[in-house]
Amino acid sequence: MCGIIGYIGPKKCIDIVFDGLKKMEYRGYDSAGIAVLHEGQISISKESGKLENLRPLLEQLPSEAHIGIGHTRWATHGLPTRDNAHPHASEKLALIHNGIIENYKELKAELQKKGFHFRSETDTEVVAHLLGERIKAGDHPRDALNKVILRLEGAFSLALISDQDPHFIYLAKQGSPLVIGLGKDENFFGSDVTAFCAHTQKAVFLQDGECAALGAKSVEIWDRQGHPIQPKTTMIQWSAASADKQGYRHYMLKEIHEQSGVISKTTHAFVKDSSLDLEGLGLNSIELNKVRSIHIIACGTAYYAGMTAKYAMETTLGIPVNVELASEFRYRNPLLMGEGQTLVMAISQSGETADTLACLKHAKDKGCQIFSICNVAYSSIHRESHGSILMHAGPEIGVASTKAFTSQVLCAYLWTLGAAQKLGRLHAEDLSSILQELKSLPIYMDKALNAEEHIAELANKLYEYPNFLFVGRGPSYIIALEGALKLKEISYIHAEGYAAGELKHGPIALVDKHMPIVAIVPKDQYYDKTLSNIEEICAREGQVIAIGDEKDQHLRDLCIDIIPCPSLKTPCFQAIVSTVAVQFLAYYIAIKRGTDVDQPRNLAKSVTVE
Ligand code: M6R
Repeated sequence: MCGIIGYIGPKKCIDIVFDGLKKMEYRGYDSAGIAVLHEGQISISKESGKLENLRPLLEQLPSEAHIGIGHTRWATHGLPTRDNAHPHASEKLALIHNGIIENYKELKAELQKKGFHFRSETDTEVVAHLLGERIKAGDHPRDALNKVILRLEGAFSLALISDQDPHFIYLAKQGSPLVIGLGKDENFFGSDVTAFCAHTQKAVFLQDGECAALGAKSVEIWDRQGHPIQPKTTMIQWSAASADKQGYRHYMLKEIHEQSGVISKTTHAFVKDSSLDLEGLGLNSIELNKVRSIHIIACGTAYYAGMTAKYAMETTLGIPVNVELASEFRYRNPLLMGEGQTLVMAISQSGETADTLACLKHAKDKGCQIFSICNVAYSSIHRESHGSILMHAGPEIGVASTKAFTSQVLCAYLWTLGAAQKLGRLHAEDLSSILQELKSLPIYMDKALNAEEHIAELANKLYEYPNFLFVGRGPSYIIALEGALKLKEISYIHAEGYAAGELKHGPIALVDKHMPIVAIVPKDQYYDKTLSNIEEICAREGQVIAIGDEKDQHLRDLCIDIIPCPSLKTPCFQAIVSTVAVQFLAYYIAIKRGTDVDQPRNLAKSVTVE
């Protein structure tokens, strides 16, 4: 994964690069490093762990430097140590990389035979030495880069500085995102526009196979054949939105609390004068009449948002809907109908998830229509789509997705309603009663948020259990999956989500008095069936915590606790409010266990390698 950033211009670069890295830390926080070029000399500072660990080392760099590159790492090859941190150095150069060099082992063996000594276990160092070898042999850094990238297999965005050409930063892109920011007598680059949008709104998105030479006053781009490419400038309207904790202890907690506001904003954006804004929902950018099948593609929590969407989408539109993990979809050769008959819908908070992006590109090549629901404007997935919805969740900083999930669920549902309306499959009265309930959804969310104190107390009793099960039926099954993922992700407790009806097909063997089971049991069409499943669990001494109606006596008799959750008519809205309880539960259990809630171990906010 990793985030990269760089600056060249008249200003002192170290603070600019360090501040840019702060914005990139969501892409990885295993280590960080900066290299600068000053008076013909390259200096590097790097450190393992979070970016803040690097701060004290910055004074070792020449403070006057005005050419710098920086990297924040999510470890793919080699432990998160200082030696494995980028930038990597070789003869006369420093290099940073985002992506994976798949043929690095062969290349490394070849270089070792030639006597190259490796200081790290990374795939990236191979590229540094290949470049160093060429530069030492007399190649100009630009020519060295052109030759070396032809030898690389995999995905990369690379940035190189060399003392052999101290007025330029050289860039190359294949598979991983890379964008240039054009300033006045200064230029930037980053893994995405947030790296530099505090300085300039003018961006040039590099395409796969392109290289660039970034000077303070010039940008030159060329393709693999060396043909010059005219830079295509995009004016970005993405402010460096302030993303502070606003008094909350963690971003995650703040983001959980923001959810009723996000729903109001989403409603305001897509419902105008009591009717759906089909343009805003991206429905005018696709040819819906042609669509014979829909594939929803996503990863992690976004995948669960897709699974929730399927419930309403398939029946309301009368079109078969398949929801699939991007990492599976991309390698199984799925049946895709060309000429726009298959619609592939990607759901992604970051818009940069590598597997999801690869699926879209593949489906596009096959002639499918491409739609996306993203939170980050100008992200790769957003730009790759024929039609899109931009969510109104605002920046999500906590690695565990919370407000983005409920926003994705709502956006996918509103899209479904809009599509049904366009296809003439939705009665006006049905739409109006749904929109009526939607208006009150923020109030119901606030009620669900009121359970916070209750859940915090409950967490005090539960945090030492090593295993949890989450169960539900219908959309609540998906919330069970999401609840289990949240708990695993931030508390490191083993948890599994199951369809309540599946328990007796195996998982019920795990149930005894040491197993807490969180049952999501709203008063919906599945209520009686879920209740029977809870009875079965209780007959085996399972400790059930229900998320449902606190006045429900039957539930109260069976469960050790009930987390109060309001009841709603529309299944999608019910799923949204039920989610709040599983988010709080994961959060407060993690707090009791003392884990790093906002940046849990081994994870990154955006997964930009496959
Ligand atoms: O940016 P994306 O929505 O594409 O990310 C997908 C997953 O990596 C993400 O939802 C992940 O599962 C979250 N950390 C879960 O909280």
